[in-house]
Amino acid sequence: MLNVFLTAMIVTLASGTAFVLYCRWRYPEPHLNWSEVDVESISFPPDFLWGAATAAHQVEGGLHNNWSVFEESRGLEKSGEACDHWNRWKEDFEMLSELGLTTYRFSIEWSRLEPEPGKWDSAPLQVYSDMVDDLLNRGIRPVVTLHHFSHPAWWEDRGGFSKKENLPEFIAYCERVFETLSDRVDVWCTINEPTVFSSMGYTLGQFPPGHRSIRQTLRIMRNLMRAHAALYASLKSRRPDASIGVAKNVTLFDPLNRWSPIDWAVARLLDWLWSGAWQRGILSGRMLGSRVRGSKNSLDFIGLNYYTHFLTGLFMPTTGELAFARRENEVSTEFGYPMYAEGFRRAIEKVSVLNVPIEITENGVADSNDVLRPEHLMRHLWVLSEAISDGYDIKSFHHWSLMDNFEWAEGYSMRFGLYEVDFDTQERNLRKSGELYRKIITEHMKT
Ligand code: FCB
Repeated sequence: MLNVFLTAMIVTLASGTAFVLYCRWRYPEPHLNWSEVDVESISFPPDFLWGAATAAHQVEGGLHNNWSVFEESRGLEKSGEACDHWNRWKEDFEMLSELGLTTYRFSIEWSRLEPEPGKWDSAPLQVYSDMVDDLLNRGIRPVVTLHHFSHPAWWEDRGGFSKKENLPEFIAYCERVFETLSDRVDVWCTINEPTVFSSMGYTLGQFPPGHRSIRQTLRIMRNLMRAHAALYASLKSRRPDASIGVAKNVTLFDPLNRWSPIDWAVARLLDWLWSGAWQRGILSGRMLGSRVRGSKNSLDFIGLNYYTHFLTGLFMPTTGELAFARRENEVSTEFGYPMYAEGFRRAIEKVSVLNVPIEITENGVADSNDVLRPEHLMRHLWVLSEAISDGYDIKSFHHWSLMDNFEWAEGYSMRFGLYEVDFDTQERNLRKSGELYRKIITEHMKT
């Protein structure tokens, strides 16, 4: 009996150690000594595109959709007027020119276009069309996102993405937008951050509809892939040379304790659920055990949203606010997660297996006093510049965000803008980091 027990112990210990050693070799977690890195030595190709990003619900104001209903029912801070961008977009686009941007990513608000099922309002679509014209006149490339976390409240009531039979309504809305704008808009993101949408809305319950069910999460993940694949086919059939992609959040999962097989197992599992399953959907046409018609190779580019890595372990919160751990040498950002620019390279490498050009569709930091943002920007641009010179095909960088805005479950407390916004007066002011970004753009467009 003792022999059996001892043998079992030895086998467990040996396999645990082998697993840890394998993981440490296969998934290194580099950390640079930033004081030795010359972050100013960067170079970008002359046709590299410099941008910023926003999303409709976060800036436009005056919306009635799944989010406004959720804010109300959960007693969250209300998005309300937001940046009043719907009325001020012309002035706001001046800011894009002031920064010298050459690309701008924004999203379309479905609830404006179809406020009631089947009742279409053409006026808002005309406004989006005017925005596109204005951007083009300024020499700025528009990048349109069709779904950035928000959709009509009536569609949410019908179950939104949780029901396969609802997808044709979503696709009909997208086709309508595409038909109006695709004569001038070349680059399209179908869905913003499918994994954030499904995990925040259906596992952690912090986004609408506030559910907490793994089964539902998996169903949403599949349906988002179905929606993306169907959209890809439909939009490409309308305009084959349009460039259609997804904005994928790549959060890296690293073990809190690098000696712990359990922490490694949790990290690998989360990485698989967050990025692996989704990538497999694109590479093989299968998502979480189901075949998804048309998902194989349904990308012309991959949008990368990179913010941080997440240190995982056995005792991780599964409810309420996430607690973020950080390494000793890392600085915490206002959001709570660490600044880890080294991970930007890992995220680029990860999405590069998809074998399509990369657009950085989001990167930035919550920093109300603008003390960390300049360093954050420089480090990430340095990593980007290195990746490009090492041969990665990266077309653009969109800073999140152009201006402070409504940060979802965090409301107005998180300030991500190159421009600071005073939400009482709607005054915008360029931050020091905005000036720095402008300087970098000017210098690198000359070369
Ligand atoms: C991303 C979202 C974006 C913004 C940033 C901070 O996950 O796509 O809308 O909230 O985080």
